[in-house]
Amino acid sequence: MQISDTTGIDDLKASREPGSRFAAATACPGLLRKIVRNLIESWPDEVYDRRLVEVSRIGRRTFFVCDPALIRSLLVDQSGSIAREDFMIAALSPLLGRGILTSDGARWKAQRRTAAPIFRPDAIAAFVPAMHNAVERTAVRWSSRGEGPVDVLDEMMRTTFDIIGATTLPDEPSLDVAEFGRSLSTYLDSVGWKILMSMLKAPRWVPHPGSIRAARAARRLRGSIAGIVAGRRAEGRFGRDLLGLMMQASDPEGGPHSGSTGMSDEALADNLLTFVAAGHETTALAMAWTFRLLAEHPRVEMRLRAEIAAAGARPAPDDLPYARQVVMEAMRLYPPAPVMVRQAISDVRLGAITIPAGSSLHVPIYAIHRHRALWASPETFDPDRFAPGIQRDRYSYLPFGAGPQVCVGMGFAMAECIVILAGLLPRFRFETLSPSRPEARFKVTLRPHGGMPLKLSPRGAVVR
Ligand code: HEM
Repeated sequence: MQISDTTGIDDLKASREPGSRFAAATACPGLLRKIVRNLIESWPDEVYDRRLVEVSRIGRRTFFVCDPALIRSLLVDQSGSIAREDFMIAALSPLLGRGILTSDGARWKAQRRTAAPIFRPDAIAAFVPAMHNAVERTAVRWSSRGEGPVDVLDEMMRTTFDIIGATTLPDEPSLDVAEFGRSLSTYLDSVGWKILMSMLKAPRWVPHPGSIRAARAARRLRGSIAGIVAGRRAEGRFGRDLLGLMMQASDPEGGPHSGSTGMSDEALADNLLTFVAAGHETTALAMAWTFRLLAEHPRVEMRLRAEIAAAGARPAPDDLPYARQVVMEAMRLYPPAPVMVRQAISDVRLGAITIPAGSSLHVPIYAIHRHRALWASPETFDPDRFAPGIQRDRYSYLPFGAGPQVCVGMGFAMAECIVILAGLLPRFRFETLSPSRPEARFKVTLRPHGGMPLKLSPRGAVVR
């Protein structure tokens, strides 16, 4: 594949004159295979040291925006000129409807305004005890199993699902949590195919591997949430869980998409499923990579355990600043959501370049976090990069995105990660089973290929 060999935006502009070195590339024969196997492999090497890179893929001009100032200009200053990519909406909307993650414009804005207060720091603090309880259940399960290899990704999926279940819908007698988790995984497993089919402009009815199973899973999940919402409405019961807060929330500015009386039942189902889908696997991945990195870096692990020990039983997330640094550094190397994709709905100006309407704009978070111009020794795991007082461009570190559509669950996710570390690290030792880390593969999220096998041993009695 030929890629622009520009070093900067001004060079890029100059080099687009006829006969210059700049050449937009067309898709090479292996590109589709790479997109399905691991999208990150299909990115040109230039995304790791250039500011803006253009390629042509599947007939569309695609721009990788890798420079913090350009990212800010795109996501903040020109947020009105971009929209979510159609292929992402097509892949996710059969499950998530038109909720916060799958809508744009007025519909998105009203839902975002309605949901934002649910994720305020005081609301998150109220969920922390339920998070500690869920982590305790994981610890009990692990203690009864004893020493041996485990797939820590699998385990973290269970734990984060337990946490999201315990905070969104606790004590819902009608909900079969295990079945819900299985259906969700079935649907999410098909998303890569759905993205590809949509990029290829295949009509929705064209089947792909797993399409029938995915459709059935989406129907089951939406049906079970709709039933719960209807049941609570009929009983006039809301509760203090996330669903209850959402049922009582209203858009402070009113509006046709949420209404001053709150979200419609359909919007509630869309957003509840969105929170579960967007919040459970991402956090599990952050933790799986964190445990692997800790197993490789005993000094970091010891310092972290000392901090946890000093904080006492069931600490508040804010009492563990080094734990926060560790999680942030793990998400720098392995951002669970490794790319943001948008389309230009009108011309976008990035420095000296005009990106024409209709182009695809990618912010390759994984590459920006390893960008050679932005990070010293980018491949090295060093939580002290995030020590207090160290200056960094806000737009060089984007695990939760940026701009108006920044992750609404960011505070919830960070609290969850820190509670998981605080609950498990003092009680269990994690050791690597092989010297090399699993390959990081793009499957919408950044998954370790083959899971995250680690040897787990209980450390012996720890007084909590
Ligand atoms: C470590 C865990 C998490 C990571 C790395 C993460 C990452 C992200 C990123 C990168 C975006 C922006 C996507 C884009 O602009 O294209 C996003 C959006 C979003 N996330 Fe998260 N997320 C995490 C956890 C959560 C949790 C726990 C929830 C909810 C409980 C959640 C709910 C959402 C929602 C609703 C959006 C859409 C926001 C909007 O468009 O206004 N996320 N997340």
